[in-house]
Amino acid sequence: PSSPIIAPSILAADFARLGEEARAVEAAGADWLHVDVMDGHFVPNITLGPDIVKALRPHVKIPFDVHLMIAPADPYLEAFRAAGADLISVHPEAGPHLNRTLKRIRELGAKAGVVFNPSTDPSVIEWMMDDVDLILVMSINPGFGGQSFMRSQLAKIERLRKMIDATGRDIPLEVDGGVTPETAPLCISAGATALVAGTAVFRGGPDRYADNIRALRGG
Ligand code: DX5
Ligand code: ZN
Repeated sequence: PSSPIIAPSILAADFARLGEEARAVEAAGADWLHVDVMDGHFVPNITLGPDIVKALRPHVKIPFDVHLMIAPADPYLEAFRAAGADLISVHPEAGPHLNRTLKRIRELGAKAGVVFNPSTDPSVIEWMMDDVDLILVMSINPGFGGQSFMRSQLAKIERLRKMIDATGRDIPLEVDGGVTPETAPLCISAGATALVAGTAVFRGGPDRYADNIRALRGG
């Protein structure tokens, strides 16, 4: 298989120097920039909103992969799109109407993603595969970086791989949480095509980013 899409999570960057950090990971070979949006309600942590996404946008050319951990998400879709989000992913639990939310994201001109919590069953998208452009499997409980990879999610990645293959469409299958050079190959073997990594990209500082990204691709 070809090299996975690598999406560094800016959650692990130096928040006082976000523009520089985004430029550094782009220069180091990142494919997408993963932006974790948390509201202190859907998940027990607060991060950033559309204004910061907008401020970051001019710093890099790579697509912004915006992971919304907010409920409700619908009232903010337009603001994140206007701020420059290229892919917008929502959790079904942020509800109430996942299909309506996905259609709205596409209407705004972005790619529509669905995120699976560790306990979320693949069947939530069984009847709406045509409306999905990205599938994101959490291999941790969302809210914080630096947690350990949950191997229980590998079987779910395999199941979602089969569901994607059945569509005949090239829908990226992304994994988020505890992705390291050790766990990345497990994700790829299970059928993942995109990897989010915070700690594993940003550790060691800017001089390490290119090597860290290379290690995630398999060296
Ligand atoms: C957590 C976020 C992740 C997080 C991953 O809720 O969705 O994107 O930044 O961090 P690491 O790679 O350190 O597990
Ligand atoms: Zn994320």
